[in-house]
Amino acid sequence: MSIQSKSISVEKASQSKIDQIDFDNLAFGSVFTDHMLVCDFKNGAWELPKIVPYQPISLDPSSKIFHYGQSIFEGMKAYKDKNEDIFLFRPLDNHKRFNISAKRLCIPEIPEDYFMEGLKTLLKLDGEFIPKNEGSSLYIRPFMFATGKGFHASPADEYKFIIACAPSGAYFAGKVKVLIEQTYSRSANGGVGFAKAGGNYAGQFYPTQLAVAKGYNQVIWTDDTEHEYIEEAGAMNIFIRINDTLITGPTSDRILDGITRKSILEIAKDHGINVEVRKITVTEVVQAAKEGTLKEMFGAGTAAVISPISAFGFKDTDYELPELNAPFADKIKKAITDIQYNKSDDTYGWRYKVTK
Ligand code: PLP
Ligand code: COI
Repeated sequence: MSIQSKSISVEKASQSKIDQIDFDNLAFGSVFTDHMLVCDFKNGAWELPKIVPYQPISLDPSSKIFHYGQSIFEGMKAYKDKNEDIFLFRPLDNHKRFNISAKRLCIPEIPEDYFMEGLKTLLKLDGEFIPKNEGSSLYIRPFMFATGKGFHASPADEYKFIIACAPSGAYFAGKVKVLIEQTYSRSANGGVGFAKAGGNYAGQFYPTQLAVAKGYNQVIWTDDTEHEYIEEAGAMNIFIRINDTLITGPTSDRILDGITRKSILEIAKDHGINVEVRKITVTEVVQAAKEGTLKEMFGAGTAAVISPISAFGFKDTDYELPELNAPFADKIKKAITDIQYNKSDDTYGWRYKVTK
């Protein structure tokens, strides 16, 4: 069954929370809009999505999400331009990746029109919550998890798909200091690293806490066998500039195929930057830092946009990155955010207009 916006029922919140939002001091993902989209999978099919006031959900203690972690999510943003029109960035790519994650976690895929019509209807209803200030946006969190009951370790028979939104500011307050991980792994060959599975993030918290206790903000994940190949930076893909070449690792079943990452690859090429997608070793990066050819490192992702790295730690030594006058990170960040906020032509066709 295909759906249109008019097949989505809307129960409006009795009172708006908009006056409680301090748009000039937004943290990341900690205050929420008035409504959320909810859609249940029961008896082998998705029911019609509905929009309801943002509220807690009640689940049976035996719901499989609590025991076996069948849970996936996406991260997207909605932007407002100076005319207050609403835009998304490559949303169909998020939908595709959501279903790739769903398949790997044995969760039923959600049809594109449920995802897109549901999201657009929600954004039009809660459009007032999309910040107008530079650098802020509405962070959108589509997620899906097993509500089906029972302790049997097998896929659930019922699921819930929800989209919740949070007006948000920057993910990181400033530059990021990272530790190159030499003990723990985020993902493994044949695992679920390429999926946005909740458990991938739970597994990162402990090693990240250890790094934070040593004064770092984030972990740089390396491959699970040798800890020699640079893979990701926390919840971001990673870019490394040696001399004037911008390098990022190839995606694999251990690495998330980031939408920001693939957009940066195109933008950088179009700005005449020499780009290489290839495996990059810790040895090479440490050597480049020692020789002074390591110019920049930055993380890239929807939440973090482009987050420059100030220094990295490896085996008890910290290596500082130079302060550059015109870093690639700034140039690329401007190009991508200008497209997102409708400040420049979008020759790539990435901007998706939702309208008011
Ligand atoms: N890598 C991981 C592990 C992430 O969680 C994210 C965030 O979504 C990214 C990379 C960046 O992906 P995207 O640019 O699609 O947000
Ligand atoms: C995103 O960038 O949207 C993410 O999903 C990262 C998240 C863990 C905050």
